Amino acid sequence: MRIKNSNIVTWLDTVSIEEMSLVVDAFYRIHRLSCLVINLDTLLTRIAEEACRVVDAEAASVMLLDVDQQNLYFQVALGDRSVQKKLKQRVHLPISRGIAGAAARERTSINVSDVKTDPRFFRDADQISLFETRSVLAVPMVDHQELVGVLELINKRAGEHFTDFDTRIMEMFASLAATAVLNAKLVQDKLNTERLAAIGEAVAGLGHCIRNIMNGIRLSKDALNQAVYEKQYEIIPDAWPILSHSLDSIEAISANMLSYSRVAAIEKTPCNLNKLVSDAIALILPRANDAGIAIEVSLAEDATIPVDKFQIQRVLWNLLANAIEACTPQGGILSVGVVRQEQHLALVVADSGSGIPPEILPRIFDPFFTTKASSGTGLGLTCCRRIIEQHNGSIVAENLPSGGAKFSLLIPYN
Ligand SMILES: Nc1ncnc2c1ncn2[C@@H]1O[C@H](COP(=O)(O)OP(=O)(O)OP(=O)(O)O)[C@@H](O)[C@H]1O
Ligand SMILES: [Mg+2]
Repeated sequence: MRIKNSNIVTWLDTVSIEEMSLVVDAFYRIHRLSCLVINLDTLLTRIAEEACRVVDAEAASVMLLDVDQQNLYFQVALGDRSVQKKLKQRVHLPISRGIAGAAARERTSINVSDVKTDPRFFRDADQISLFETRSVLAVPMVDHQELVGVLELINKRAGEHFTDFDTRIMEMFASLAATAVLNAKLVQDKLNTERLAAIGEAVAGLGHCIRNIMNGIRLSKDALNQAVYEKQYEIIPDAWPILSHSLDSIEAISANMLSYSRVAAIEKTPCNLNKLVSDAIALILPRANDAGIAIEVSLAEDATIPVDKFQIQRVLWNLLANAIEACTPQGGILSVGVVRQEQHLALVVADSGSGIPPEILPRIFDPFFTTKASSGTGLGLTCCRRIIEQHNGSIVAENLPSGGAKFSLLIPYN
């Protein structure tokens, strides 16, 4: 069946309903894909595959424009993977050469039915792919006047050459591909800007934090100098905890930074979680006493579980430090519980401190999120979550109805 209303656009004249429905179907699939797929390579590959199917070509490729070098390189080449790789690595077609180059330069579709008779034909790709090109349809990919690349269809099957209808439809495909490339660039630019902003913020936050700690170290160093050189030994008990706390803070920051920047493989060995909890509490006890915080502990009967001991220690230190900070200066209660469940060992760290404002609750595990200005880096909870997830476990934060925050961790036995 032919479309009847042929006096509007002449090329539609020759199109059958079957061909049209094939095209509409392909556009529908590409539209759906472009809503779902973020990866540019995947999207362009699917566009090339659909293009091949619609015009019944043997192969298709998407070449993108390198604006600085003024050449075209293969972003997608359908077919054998090793050939694709070679084409991507080795073929850079100056836009002054080849049929694709001419389509890019002149921003017009070029339909060549027999490449052997066309002096513009560039043989490099055929020599690498061992593919014999007979006919080519090269269509420039343009979006908002910007040339992005060239969509190339190779060898119309059954020995025919590409038609006017093929050219028109491929121009629409090329336009879709161009939009996809520019959208991907926009997303990448936005991500880069956000990443740079986040790095800037993180560096600024770290700088403040380290300066704060250095102030503590300088203060205690001056006091200890005074104690030693002027024999005022009574100052030492005041100066020493400041120095010790500052050194602990530097150690905690560098450990969190390291744990954040490179994901170390975890090494599980059977550990008694009760012991890890008791050891961690013994370490923070002086700080808790100073801040007027009482500690309640409830341990499980059997708390042996395969974990990476050093990483779980890090989790405990971070959670206990946060709980103490939330109860300072007003004092309060910090409770730690270990409970044996069927599939998991549960660890709960709760405090009667300030609680977590509901509006920041969704962000507390984000890297560099902190409400502690220059005294926090915002990496503590990020590292906790990463470590627990590496153990295939989970960590959840909530506020207690009685006030304060509760962190519940589940660590599976295997
Ligand atoms: N127990 C808690 N009570 C109230 N707020 C908390 C508690 N634990 C964490 N938070 C909130 O979550 C934020 C992020 O915590 P996180 O441990 O990641 O960073 P930080 O404590 O600010 O800095 P640091 O890198 O030194 O640990 C904190 O700044 C705080 O606002
Ligand atoms: Mg913290």
